[in-house]
Amino acid sequence: MKRTHHCAQLTKSDLNATISLAGWVDSVRDHGGIIFIDLRDREGVTQVKFDTNLRAEAAQLKSESVIGITGTVVARPGEMVNKNIPTGEIEIDATELVVHNISDTPPFPLTDAGGDKVNEDLRLTYRYLDLRRPKMRKNLAVRHRATKAVRDYFDSQGFYEIETPALFKSTPEGAREYLVPSRIHAGQFYALSQSPQQFKQILMVAGVEKYFQIARCFRDEDLRADRQMEFTQIDVEVSFIDREGIYSLFEGMLKKVWKEVLAHDLPTPFPRMAYKDAMNRYGVDKPDTRFGIELVDLSDTFKASSFKVFQSTIAAGGSVKAINAKGLADITQGELGSMEEVAKSLGAKGLAFIKVEKGEWKSPIVKFFSDAEKAELTKRLNIEDGDILFFAAAPWERACAILGRARLDASQLLVKRGKMQLRADQWNFLWVVDFPLMSYDEEKGSYAATHHPFTSPVPEDTALLESDPKAVRGQHYDVVLNGMELGGGSIRIHQPAIQKKVFEDVLKIPADVVESRFGYMLKAFTYGAPPHGGIAFGLDRMCALLCGTTSIRDVIAFPKTQKAQDLMAQSPTPVTAKQLKELHIQTVIPTE
Ligand code: AMO
Ligand code: AMP
Repeated sequence: MKRTHHCAQLTKSDLNATISLAGWVDSVRDHGGIIFIDLRDREGVTQVKFDTNLRAEAAQLKSESVIGITGTVVARPGEMVNKNIPTGEIEIDATELVVHNISDTPPFPLTDAGGDKVNEDLRLTYRYLDLRRPKMRKNLAVRHRATKAVRDYFDSQGFYEIETPALFKSTPEGAREYLVPSRIHAGQFYALSQSPQQFKQILMVAGVEKYFQIARCFRDEDLRADRQMEFTQIDVEVSFIDREGIYSLFEGMLKKVWKEVLAHDLPTPFPRMAYKDAMNRYGVDKPDTRFGIELVDLSDTFKASSFKVFQSTIAAGGSVKAINAKGLADITQGELGSMEEVAKSLGAKGLAFIKVEKGEWKSPIVKFFSDAEKAELTKRLNIEDGDILFFAAAPWERACAILGRARLDASQLLVKRGKMQLRADQWNFLWVVDFPLMSYDEEKGSYAATHHPFTSPVPEDTALLESDPKAVRGQHYDVVLNGMELGGGSIRIHQPAIQKKVFEDVLKIPADVVESRFGYMLKAFTYGAPPHGGIAFGLDRMCALLCGTTSIRDVIAFPKTQKAQDLMAQSPTPVTAKQLKELHIQTVIPTE
């Protein structure tokens, strides 16, 4: 039996046609001897009626069994019309039934609600069943359409899609990498590519000018909702381009993707925000600008305060900042406690607060404040009944980070109480720009590249590279959407002398190490490297936002768990002694 239509196709215009369908039994219902089966395939559902000699066999079918049917398209009686599905006005009067496969009872209901209720580990163990759920099927379709739109866009802009090696060499300066032992070269290793960064720059030296790739990347990171060990980038590099060129190129791509996938017109250009402003106002370099609760700097107010915690922090060069979580004075002790725990995990000594209830300020610290300080607080933080303020006193960056996180936690609590709405389809895109080129790691006593070491300084800051690296701004940009970093990139260094200076004089990588890791790149740059820049976009993250989910696991067909395992195929696994020997490897398993 060959199918003639899919299960979302037949309508009243097909009445009396003889057709064949194939798919999964979504449900079986017995209505006084007549059996109704909802037959489901990738596209949708069609109701099939069995009231001939096929009745008995149809009644035996279990959900998720695979069948084929032939029959006649007939109109449903008026009261049985279902306006919610495209095939809701018809049903099939079955004349033939082929049973391809009887299904065991699935371990969880394959509806959206049924799957959402069970533990994600169970869904991942039976991923092939989980992916049958309508919303997972939709997510796969959205990802396909988004990827297709990206490919079409770059093709229309004259880009070549070029594959680069997954097996690269170890250049450990970003995330931890996965190593792959070489059988042929005993004791030597490849590293799985964390990103095609170096290859795409080499392609610019090779004269490709416009490169893109839907590229798989591998990073041995701690996994989270928005992080996987292998993930996909929309990776781009362009010659003879400046920052403005990159902004408009990517705004164009996102406009096309949102239009084709969601039929939504994104307004462009996107707003831009300097890194410093993002930190000062939102406490993070990827601000969610869908709501306020902005940070207020109170370092001036408390410079001479008799509250020693604040005064001494400011005297030591730190900052005192606060947020007003409007309407959250009804926070519970438990919620407050966990916000404080989070603050402490970010290096806070405490998370001072003031609750404002019935005109009274309830707080462990307010007794230390002068009237002038209170008046200033009231004015600057627009304090009203029902509010709660949170304070952080710490070095600038840490104070920002603590309150940036408190701001997000407070917003979640307000959402939970129905006092704030955060719409997943409010698309607050933002370019975050003017990052510092280098950040100083106090513990290591050395500089590290904020983005990566190939990022070009802002031309007017280049002179400060040796004297004051902290003050140098990089030509680095991030695209942020509703609090998620979607992509990042930079204009690159294309002069070998400046690149060498960054490696050796600023990052203090010994010359022989620079030579062994990056020598080939510096050499390539001596043969006419064009000015170039690029960006990489997290395809998984973009699709998650397009699908209205916060977990990228929902838009990856076969993701790993937070514990880096594939629960379906069961990896990782031990391998045989023979395999290890061939690879010249011995393993040492920790005892505890
Ligand atoms: P970066 O490291 O910022 O830049 O990565 C770019 C984007 O990739 C996504 N991303 C991830 N997605 C899922 N899981 C992960 N573990 C993960 N890590 C990163 C993010 C991020 O914004 N070569 C540079 C780009 C360039 O300079 O052109 C790079 O890889 O969405
Ligand atoms: P203490 O005087 O240490 O008891 O602190 C009084 C209050 O201020 C407590 O609620 C602490 O949680 C809070 N606190 C202490 N240090 C800081 C800090 N650096 N930033 C914000 N709040 C703090």
